[in-house]
Amino acid sequence: MSNGPLTGQVWRMRLDMERVDFRPGQFVEIQVPSFFLRRPISVCDAERLGNTSVLTLIYKVVGGGTKEMTSLLPGTQLDMLAPLGNGYDLRIAGDRPLLIGGGVGIPPLYLLARQLRAQGKEVQVVLGFNTASEAFYVREFEALRCAVQVTTADGSMGVKGFVTDAVAAEYMKASSGSSVSLPYYYACGPLPMLQSVIRTLGTNGEISMEERMGCGFGVCMGCSIQTASGPRRVCTDGPVFNAAELQL
Ligand SMILES: Cc1cc2nc3c(=O)[nH]c(=O)nc-3n(C[C@H](O)[C@H](O)[C@H](O)COP(=O)(O)OP(=O)(O)OC[C@H]3O[C@@H](n4cnc5c(N)ncnc54)[C@H](O)[C@@H]3O)c2cc1C
Ligand code: FES
Repeated sequence: MSNGPLTGQVWRMRLDMERVDFRPGQFVEIQVPSFFLRRPISVCDAERLGNTSVLTLIYKVVGGGTKEMTSLLPGTQLDMLAPLGNGYDLRIAGDRPLLIGGGVGIPPLYLLARQLRAQGKEVQVVLGFNTASEAFYVREFEALRCAVQVTTADGSMGVKGFVTDAVAAEYMKASSGSSVSLPYYYACGPLPMLQSVIRTLGTNGEISMEERMGCGFGVCMGCSIQTASGPRRVCTDGPVFNAAELQL
């Protein structure tokens, strides 16, 4: 196990696991010792390295639970429910899927990008941060040979603005040609970003939701959201939903 900072507030934890058969977009529920409720964190990567299976999680320190996660040392045994949730559907990605992530919505897109690249797809990635010092995993996506664009709200790195500014610029460029259609997209990030993605690109894509959770496995109904087909549980019916289903 390793556990260390990538930026001031964002940490990466690597765990030795018995299994690595996670789908991109699935998540785990970690029992943080001092807290009753488990903390849901997306699977960022899962791979076999030699004889070991390694699960990578990236988490932002926002409150007591994630703060305590930063104190977990190598050798700690974690109580974890995994894998949870449905995950992204790779079968409908098309040839040039677009992955859009904001802040700690970015981690679940990494395993997705790796698997789409392994299928030979040309993967376009737009990563949004507030400022350059909060940026992480840009080089890791580039190392997968994805076409990566970074946006920062303050313009300190990449395009100044939000992910949808970069997406809109790309779309306007594309629409000046005659036969370019919008790509299928996969998005994860804060609610205003997701709303803006749907306004910009329509609903031909999938969105991963990060709702507060109780049990994490379908029993407490604490994570229910309203969708076009009625109430759905983010933990078991999601966290990935077809954008057309969502009422954001
Ligand atoms: C499916 C899913 C995947 C997620 N993946 C990631 C990830 O990869 N990286 C990452 O940094 N964060 C992720 N989150 C958000 C993460 O779960 C919360 O930031 C974390 O639980 C906060 O715990 P805390 O004790 O530090 O904060 P506190 O605010 O003290 O937490 C209080 C309670 O609210 C819940 N909570 C607080 N914020 C959130 C939130 N944004 N979403 C859901 N529950 C919340 C906590 O789990 C806890 O039960 C994910 C959330 C979900 C639902
Ligand atoms: S968190 Fe309990 S049903 Fe989803």
